[in-house]
Amino acid sequence: MKLEVSKIESCSVFKNFKIEKISKVQQKKIVNNIFLKKISDMLGWLDVIDVREENLNNIEKFACQIRKKYKNFVVLGIGGSALGVKTLKHAFFDSIHKKEKIKTFVCDNIDSDGFISLLDALDLKKTIFNVITKSGSTSETLAQMSVVLKLLSDKKIKADKHIIVTTTKDNDLYQFAIKNNFKVFDIPKDVGGRFSVFSNVGIVPCAIMGLNIKELLSGAKMARENAKKYDYTNISYTSAYINYKALEKGFTNLVFMPYSDRLMLVSDYFAQLWAESLGKKFNRSGEEIFSGQTPIKALGVTDQHSQLQLYTEGPRDKIFMFLKVQEKIFDFTLDYDIPFMKKLNNIELSTLLNSEFFATRLSLSSLDIPNYSIIIDKIDEKNMGSLLFYLQMTTAFMGEMMEIDAYNQNGVEQSKVYTKASLGFEGLNEQKRLIEDFRKTQKLIGY
Ligand code: PA5
Repeated sequence: MKLEVSKIESCSVFKNFKIEKISKVQQKKIVNNIFLKKISDMLGWLDVIDVREENLNNIEKFACQIRKKYKNFVVLGIGGSALGVKTLKHAFFDSIHKKEKIKTFVCDNIDSDGFISLLDALDLKKTIFNVITKSGSTSETLAQMSVVLKLLSDKKIKADKHIIVTTTKDNDLYQFAIKNNFKVFDIPKDVGGRFSVFSNVGIVPCAIMGLNIKELLSGAKMARENAKKYDYTNISYTSAYINYKALEKGFTNLVFMPYSDRLMLVSDYFAQLWAESLGKKFNRSGEEIFSGQTPIKALGVTDQHSQLQLYTEGPRDKIFMFLKVQEKIFDFTLDYDIPFMKKLNNIELSTLLNSEFFATRLSLSSLDIPNYSIIIDKIDEKNMGSLLFYLQMTTAFMGEMMEIDAYNQNGVEQSKVYTKASLGFEGLNEQKRLIEDFRKTQKLIGY
């Protein structure tokens, strides 16, 4: 994996910035704080990639048995418990219409139009569900599980043959799963949702889909090794540093723009990491700071015809992270003569995409808008492991630079509590009163 940073160095807001000049002293301190686990007790994700060979073999064996027995595999989860798998599934299967070894669905919403209609279309006797929730108490995921259990029971199908639960040892869901003889995979307590794709949260579903999990982890390890370096060749640190400096200079938005259909959902994966980890009311010293850099999801070339106008002529408050893949598995030579478009003859489709990628970068750079690119050779398990771990590391470094706790999500918890209150869960009287007031003051206009 490489970073192309020349258009950061030449951007006037960074005033003669050279990545070689990034302070090594400061970098060493931050790298050590993270790798020596001085700043948080939620850094288990750094080690979760060191799985023993024997354990990986067991997971692969289990995955193989699942594929022999079932036709469909449905992941039930939300946020960090779904996004990693969804991103990887899209990169390897959906976007190039390649079949997973077992037909896989990742359900991370409770809109019945989507969820119930999917279940209606599946033969439940041939379907296995993986309920994934670290806390074991997320309403959305438990509601999905409740639907599935009811449908299985209505159809007199024994649930224990159709449910796998991935959660933290000893929570209520864990106990429920054991009691009901469900197969259970553990999520370590010190691995938070959005940093959990390399734990059983992601590894088990990836193995079931038929991805090479050993390669995925070996890619992640490469990114971790790189992130331990104390100079600018540490690309996660350098990325965080650039984004942090941009934020200091008023670039409060970060556009993440893969030029790749297959990597389209990496934007969602990154957006969650960036938003949930860095959007914080307080810093580590308890001062109110309302920090964050808003991630904006874009896709090249598609959004050149939708968002680029704003990016070039709108507010100068955005830094750009592009993502580019060198190798394509499909390409096509344009050799049908369209008389009024001669220039589109005898070129590869990928050449057009590359030219547009270059053109977008040039238009932004010529307007002095900061942008840089992450470049990967090809989309395989090793590169994807490396890319997702690099994004986790970049987020962790950025959190340290901003002096915040990147591993909590109090803002999300608040909405979880309100949901429970509005459903009438016991206690929560203050929240129930707020909900009542909120409902009373609704004001509808329109037709
Ligand atoms: O990153 C996070 O911690 C969150 O996005 C969680 O993954 C999300 O809220 C789901 O939580 P849980 O896995 O406990 O169901």
